[in-house]
Amino acid sequence: MNLVKPVAADRLPALLRQMPKAELHIHIEGSLEPELIFALARRNGVALPYASVDELRSAYAFTNLQSFLDIYYAGASVLITEQDFYDMARAYFAGAAQDNVVHAELFFDPQTHTARGVSMETVVNGLHRACVDAEAELGVSASLILCFLRHLSEEDAFETLEQALPFREKIIGIGLDSGEVGNPPEKFTRVFARCRELGFHLVAHAGEEGPPAYVWTALDVLKVERIDHGVQSSKDALLMQRLAKDRIALTVCPLSNLKLCVFPDLASHNLRQLLDAGLAATVNSDDPAYFGGYLNENFTQTFAAGPLNAEHAYRLARNSFEASFIDDAAKARHIGRLDETFATFQ
Ligand code: HPA
Ligand code: ZN
Repeated sequence: MNLVKPVAADRLPALLRQMPKAELHIHIEGSLEPELIFALARRNGVALPYASVDELRSAYAFTNLQSFLDIYYAGASVLITEQDFYDMARAYFAGAAQDNVVHAELFFDPQTHTARGVSMETVVNGLHRACVDAEAELGVSASLILCFLRHLSEEDAFETLEQALPFREKIIGIGLDSGEVGNPPEKFTRVFARCRELGFHLVAHAGEEGPPAYVWTALDVLKVERIDHGVQSSKDALLMQRLAKDRIALTVCPLSNLKLCVFPDLASHNLRQLLDAGLAATVNSDDPAYFGGYLNENFTQTFAAGPLNAEHAYRLARNSFEASFIDDAAKARHIGRLDETFATFQ
């Protein structure tokens, strides 16, 4: 489909909600709502340093990525049993289905859990069972991407990979997250090379707070297929050309960027600049329980703040399917439904 009909500004939010879409950048531990954190803490007898849901929520005032990560890792400490991981992911999928997310690729951080004595088996099996049920019961297909924590050593990442190999069939890809500045992609050169030999899809967070140089090394040294965030790329014209030429997808997370002070407001966000430069940008929620909105909120708030139109909406949704790790037949099926939605929308 080449032609997207113009849509009146007051009808755009409805179109954004209704269009089928894939979510490619969601940390499943970042979907833990305060209410579920307290319920799991009670169920597992875990003490929390907050007296109430409201007190916890009022601590969600972040100044940068690290100020968020400190609270995010503390919140994940309530996850103990396979059922906990299942319940967390099921809650995410229920909301995602409401947002017309038809496919999701979930990041998870096993080192956050194995360091507390929770086994890889517990984590992967709970999340995988939720993915299977999401497809059967909600019609949302899903897969798992294991992320290495970049503030830890490459040796620690190698150990984590070893622990994950018995569950190889339940994991589609490998990513890299946590504190970016000072932990460049090239710190993980050897372990990513090994993951590539093993046939995993590869992605990495780069250019969220870190410089364009980190995006270059994620591409050229780690050989990733997508860049998570990548918004700092607009500071490097040559990098922008490379990303456009090779159709490297950026999984952009506008509300995350706002809450972590990467941009002062959504009107200053560079999503439109990335799209208009021909980059395969997508919109995602990152850690929606912490950043004030799930996927449709990311779309509607970003479009409300800036000069984005129905053509941009179509491209963002289409990019989300094209950049996903589903097979070509599934991509064509989803894009067909997307075209139908745009053709019939009034
Ligand atoms: N950046 C890096 N690490 C993370 C993020 C993020 O936005 N969310 C969860 N872990
Ligand atoms: Zn992220």
